[in-house]
Amino acid sequence: MSFWTRHQIFEKNSIILIVGILAVVAIGGLVEITPLFYLKSTIEKVDGIRPYTPLELTGRNIYVREGCYLCHSQMIRPLRDEVERYGHFSLAAESMYDHPFQWGSKRTGPDLARVGAKYSDEWHVTHLTNPRAIVPQSVMPGYPFLAETEVDIAGMEGHLRTSRTVGVPYSDDQIANAVADLKAQADPDNPGVDAFTKRYPKAVARNFDGKAGLPTEMDALVAYLQMLGTLVDFKLYNEKANLR
Ligand code: HEC
Repeated sequence: MSFWTRHQIFEKNSIILIVGILAVVAIGGLVEITPLFYLKSTIEKVDGIRPYTPLELTGRNIYVREGCYLCHSQMIRPLRDEVERYGHFSLAAESMYDHPFQWGSKRTGPDLARVGAKYSDEWHVTHLTNPRAIVPQSVMPGYPFLAETEVDIAGMEGHLRTSRTVGVPYSDDQIANAVADLKAQADPDNPGVDAFTKRYPKAVARNFDGKAGLPTEMDALVAYLQMLGTLVDFKLYNEKANLR
């Protein structure tokens, strides 16, 4: 019996064919998946990446709730036009504490991965309240109610604890002080600011919305936007990674 006549076994019997297909696909799958179990991590560790502060995390929730991801991406691809417009391409580590990630799939507006520190807080408050006040032809909706709505602090501790169960390394100290840290970050005169910046290195405490009183959703969203893309020092990173 030649090879080709033996192959008829597969062609004439669908069950044997299915078993054969499964065997071949399994080999392909193993070749792709097995090496991943032997890597210490699929995400390269990068200095500067830290879990979000409670206020930033709250801002991130508002970003998700309002559907900002429907018009904005947060992922700069390593292509020349993108890198020249937005800055260093995004690293996997930059979204490692995002559950879920906010890469997005549509850019009606610009990518926001490195929007932090690009504009002033006042710019963001004016723009978020009414984008047409800054860009007359903008199609972005206004979100004036954010400045009128106090942040919901009730679930803050639980939110940090839940994030920890999916791998975000919040310490017991950070969880116990979630509400205090949230308030301290939106108020530079708060006595808790020092303790807060110790818990979250390089985080900035500012009155983001420019209003007195408890933190508003505007404080939270602006704090989040101002942090985006600022955690990694790319001068150091490029030296270390031996790029340039
Ligand atoms: C309907 C689509 C749409 C939605 C939804 C939307 N945006 Fe925009 N956004 C735009 C467009 C278009 C621009 C560019 C024009 C402008 O600046 O208004 C923009 C610009 C921006 C900018 C300035 C970026 C830069 O680098 O200049 C920021 C920041 C921003 N949006 C944040 C947000 C946030 C936060 C949300 C959710 C609360 C949001 N956007 C929702 C369309 C959208």
